[in-house]
Amino acid sequence: MKNINPTSTAAWKKLQVHYQSVKDQHIKDYFTKDSNRFEHFSLKANDILIDYSKNKLTEETLKLLLELAEEFKLPEQIKSMFSGEKINETESRAVLHTALRNFSDQPVYESGEDIMPQIKEVLKQMKNFCEKVHNGDWKGYSGKKITDIVNIGIGGSDLGPVMVTEALKPYQKEGIKVHFVSNIDASHIAEVFKKINPESTLFLIASKTFTTQETMTNAHTARNWFLENGGNEKDIAKHFAALSTNQKAVEDFGIDPANMFVFWDWVGGRYSLWSAIGLSIALSIGYDNFEELLKGAHEMDQHFLNQPLAENAPVLLALIGIWYNNFFEAETEAILPYDQYLHRFAAYFQQGNMESNGKSVDRGGEKVHYQTGPIVWGEPGTNGQHAFYQLIHQGTKLIPCDFIAPANSHHPIGDHHEKLLANFFAQTEALMNGKTETEARKELQEKGMNEDEIAKLVPFKVFAGNNPTNSILLEKITPKSLGNLIALYEHKIYVQGVIWNIFSFDQWGVELGKQLAGLILPELKHNNPVIGHDSSTNGLINEYKKMRK
Ligand code: F6P
Repeated sequence: MKNINPTSTAAWKKLQVHYQSVKDQHIKDYFTKDSNRFEHFSLKANDILIDYSKNKLTEETLKLLLELAEEFKLPEQIKSMFSGEKINETESRAVLHTALRNFSDQPVYESGEDIMPQIKEVLKQMKNFCEKVHNGDWKGYSGKKITDIVNIGIGGSDLGPVMVTEALKPYQKEGIKVHFVSNIDASHIAEVFKKINPESTLFLIASKTFTTQETMTNAHTARNWFLENGGNEKDIAKHFAALSTNQKAVEDFGIDPANMFVFWDWVGGRYSLWSAIGLSIALSIGYDNFEELLKGAHEMDQHFLNQPLAENAPVLLALIGIWYNNFFEAETEAILPYDQYLHRFAAYFQQGNMESNGKSVDRGGEKVHYQTGPIVWGEPGTNGQHAFYQLIHQGTKLIPCDFIAPANSHHPIGDHHEKLLANFFAQTEALMNGKTETEARKELQEKGMNEDEIAKLVPFKVFAGNNPTNSILLEKITPKSLGNLIALYEHKIYVQGVIWNIFSFDQWGVELGKQLAGLILPELKHNNPVIGHDSSTNGLINEYKKMRK
């Protein structure tokens, strides 16, 4: 991959000049000038409508942002990912989660080998397994049907399956419950133990490396629990399966190799829900629905690969994000789904974004002198309105927001959905328009307040507005449309990484804490005071030793 400092490009310099001329403009004025702004600044990408008109964006801004993308030869960089180049250079790996959902019948080569047959093979294995579990052919040690699936994994081996199984709960197979254990805090697994019966539970140990401390500790605890509650060693094969790239570690753990669902080092952890890591999803919603999810993502892959930059949804979202992150200096971005089932969507893309683009060294190994990945956060729609929207409306920080909603609810009860969507539309309008002093005054006058009272209150009632939003509408949250939506956000991350000149597919930053925890753990196994750390860490460890019973 080329090593280009974005700030040295001609487009970046033009954007800096352009920023000075537009930074104080108000979004609502763009609508006054162009009554067709919605048509000009929105697009349909497969199942998804994206309205990006309520942004601090002119035709000129967009033109310059697209020039920036061109300077990075973005179409070539997109192809290089899809074609299996080792774009994850620090780990010398290809990045091919797109191959996992490739339904094009075209081969995909990694190190000279067509990887599609292996992918298809694992999908077939997943399909057969799901069928057996669902129709009751796969039985627990006492002959009972499997009713509970416990996915034990963390990070990318947990967040994707959690988010998708929650998002697609309406498609959940009858008679199957899925549970997720990720935290090394024993409370997590202990709560799950309360809900399950060893005779009818299947544990999926989901770990790319099969060495992650949290997952391996939870996996051993699950095995002990199983053995202490009626299961025998010989029964483990019926109750434990592994989703991993590490065959040896899986065998060492004692899982039957026949119960191993493999994936490969060219699947990044946070991009792995499409791989064997998605087995909990397939078991939850059925294999056919899982395949629909993959097909939805494949559709977005095709869009990303083939659409010109100016009509390319992930590219546009990425460029708009860069505009705020690097020119307006916005530090965070909110993802606000107006759909209860999408309640883990922001958490999922928190890892997606922050582990991918939370980097401060560029592709040449130099420290960057510009901002890279934003802080990503969010909660479902109206709950957020009653919690943190105050700060978005009237605080001092610029927080670009993505509003996401389905036009149709899975539960058309009364007018809930209309009310939900009324809030969605109203918020994006309010965030943009705000409320002027004149409007605030008028409102107070209409309430019968006198001039003194109005003068006191009016500064607090004014909303500056001019807060940018993208609005993303889907017909309904289905496996296919969700696949589309996830891939949209995945590709946005890649585009931003390209332009920030960073490697988006490694995560060295998570190592240090793990190493130090490894050194501290033996120190917690005895009661002698420790002296080898700084005074804070020594103090905390020694106080903890006094407090523990
Ligand atoms: O947090 C670091 C990380 O490596 C993530 O990237 C990954 O998703 C997670 O740990 C879990 O890793 P594994 O699947 O190997 O257990």
